[in-house]
Amino acid sequence: MGKIRIGALVSGGGTNLQAIIDACEAGRINGEVVFVGSDNPDAYGLERGKSHNIPTFVLDYKEIARRYDEGSEGLVPEDFNLNEILKKQTLFSVSEEPAKLTRFFSIRAAAEGALIREMSPYSFDLLVLAGFMRTLSPYFIDKINFAPLDPRIMNIHPALLPAFPGIDGYGDTYRYGCKVGGCTVHFIDYGEDSGAIIGQKAFEITPEDTIETIKEKGLRLEWELYADCVRLFAEGKFKVVRKLYNLKGGRKLQRTVVEIVS
Ligand code: GAR
Repeated sequence: MGKIRIGALVSGGGTNLQAIIDACEAGRINGEVVFVGSDNPDAYGLERGKSHNIPTFVLDYKEIARRYDEGSEGLVPEDFNLNEILKKQTLFSVSEEPAKLTRFFSIRAAAEGALIREMSPYSFDLLVLAGFMRTLSPYFIDKINFAPLDPRIMNIHPALLPAFPGIDGYGDTYRYGCKVGGCTVHFIDYGEDSGAIIGQKAFEITPEDTIETIKEKGLRLEWELYADCVRLFAEGKFKVVRKLYNLKGGRKLQRTVVEIVS
């Protein structure tokens, strides 16, 4: 296999992006980062990209939401089908207020349509979310993934999923009183941090730990884990399979999982 082309989206400091860039440059990953995009004009991750001569762009989600609320025309892409998205998404429960769902997914599609336009000059094999703090809707995901069993959007999450999805994985781990914390790399699906798990690393939490020390311990492991998972992807070592389990009481559980092939 030749070098894979990796696109990256960041919202903040971009230390995970740095780990991936470094692993590519050192030859540990047979790949190269071909763009860095952000929803945050001040994300330091953009500077990291620039300093490695990687093209960058910013897509201001907040500005798009503001224009949508002002009633600006032509923001929502023509191929956006609200009913189809509502059927697919698992970010919100079906009992959620319809007006809230309409607004959320319309703004998302407006931002994601613009994001896709920004990304379109670059072909890529894998899209890594490296501290990208926006959920992706089915509108975007279906345009990036080749097929349900051939996903290509990866995320790193600061907790041992499926525990503590959401925006503050290490904080939630700490406040719960967990004795072990960790991080997870997974593929993106239509839910929040619910896609097939690729890899995880764990660390011990001692009585001396604070939220800050937990974040430090976790981030160090994230850098190793993310680079490892991207390397395995580049080596074609994943198989994504659908499993069907028979549970007690005749219940059935279907789950999409990642198998690492040697
Ligand atoms: C990391 O801890 C990552 O796991 C987390 O944001 C941080 C980004 O750090 N991501 C999420 O919480 C995604 N929901 P970085 O910008 O230094 O890579």
